[in-house]
Amino acid sequence: MRFGIRTIDEFDVKDKIVLCRVDINQPVDREKGTLKSTARIEACVPTIKELSEKGAKLVLMAHQGSDIEYKNFYTTEPHSKVLSQLLGKEVQFIPDVCGPAAIEKIQSLNAGEILLLDNVRFVSEEQTLFEQKLCLSHEEQAQTLLVRRLAPLADLYVCDAFAASHRDQPSLCGFEQVLPSAMGRLFEKEYCVLSELMEAPERPCTFVLGGAKIADAFLMMETVLNASVADHILTGGLVANILLAAKGEDIGKGSMDFILKSNYGEYIDKAKVIYEKYQDKIVLPTDLAYTEDGVRKEAKIGSIPEQAGLTDIGADTSAAYQKYIRESKTVFVNGPMGIFEEEATEYGTKAVWEALGDTEAYTVIGGGDSITATTKYDKTAAISYICTGGGALIRFLTGEELPVVKALRHGAGITKE
Ligand code: 3PG
Repeated sequence: MRFGIRTIDEFDVKDKIVLCRVDINQPVDREKGTLKSTARIEACVPTIKELSEKGAKLVLMAHQGSDIEYKNFYTTEPHSKVLSQLLGKEVQFIPDVCGPAAIEKIQSLNAGEILLLDNVRFVSEEQTLFEQKLCLSHEEQAQTLLVRRLAPLADLYVCDAFAASHRDQPSLCGFEQVLPSAMGRLFEKEYCVLSELMEAPERPCTFVLGGAKIADAFLMMETVLNASVADHILTGGLVANILLAAKGEDIGKGSMDFILKSNYGEYIDKAKVIYEKYQDKIVLPTDLAYTEDGVRKEAKIGSIPEQAGLTDIGADTSAAYQKYIRESKTVFVNGPMGIFEEEATEYGTKAVWEALGDTEAYTVIGGGDSITATTKYDKTAAISYICTGGGALIRFLTGEELPVVKALRHGAGITKE
């Protein structure tokens, strides 16, 4: 038991039907019917391998895309092929979630065999819009079709989907109400590393917050400042531009119009309050970059041209941020410093990732763009911990108990008759 949650060490899974919820949600190439990345699939291989090698009859449940972000809403069939390759053994697939075909298939599994069910979100009760509209309690989730159909077949529920642990959906929170439950190895690693890090980070502890996910960034900033976890917050991207505007700096009409047009105006007022309270901890850029006809230009704060579209931090700011990162003992990064996909505006992000690569600090990164930047700048081996979760990581950092963590704690008290 760790953090009130049981681990798979506590169960003998031989010949037992184990329902395991994984997060193997990846960008999809619909035309080719393939996945554009396999990073999340690779991350949950240790749990799947261990359970199968210990003789479990293993049933994997996963979502792919969502009803909210439809472009990746897809079958999990390609995932079974990738998993089979990674494991070096067949992962069977069935185009069903909890209908008679899936039930029959589950009942016919032999020890060590692995079955991946189709996208759980093909069942309406699993959809994110359903979650948000109905707000079912965990007890009510145990009454859904998915749980009523599959739980009676199983001996144990394992959740290895830390990246989806902020979701309150039956495949994530319903089974723990009726089945003995444990976290998988990836969940254990993600949740325990982050919990320990947040409880007692080695100091100085620096957060680097950039990108354009404003609501998430401000939520995170407030939380780590109020909880006195962060000693410094280095800001980049749109997050920095909003804070600069809140401080009363002239960021140019072009950038200001962009903030207002994107409906981020309310964050300027929010930023004013946060900045006033924590100006000794929040570090703002002293120079910024923009492009003119594709050519990179830089300007100091105070002399930003009226129509400049700000797309990166400047060279002085980049050097200052590198120094902070190299002098820290813990560094947490979420979001790039600018549009790092383009050569003219990647300087700041590249500089931050260079420092992440050679600092002696314990480094943690999370979020899709940060993972992409880590791959682009070839720093995967140098980062101490890469979290598979984006939204889940942010919710975790707010200090609120994640729905899946709550459910797994409940499940720790359930025994099978
Ligand atoms: C993610 O991609 O962050 C997780 O797989 C959760 O996906 P969701 O935001 O569609 O629930």
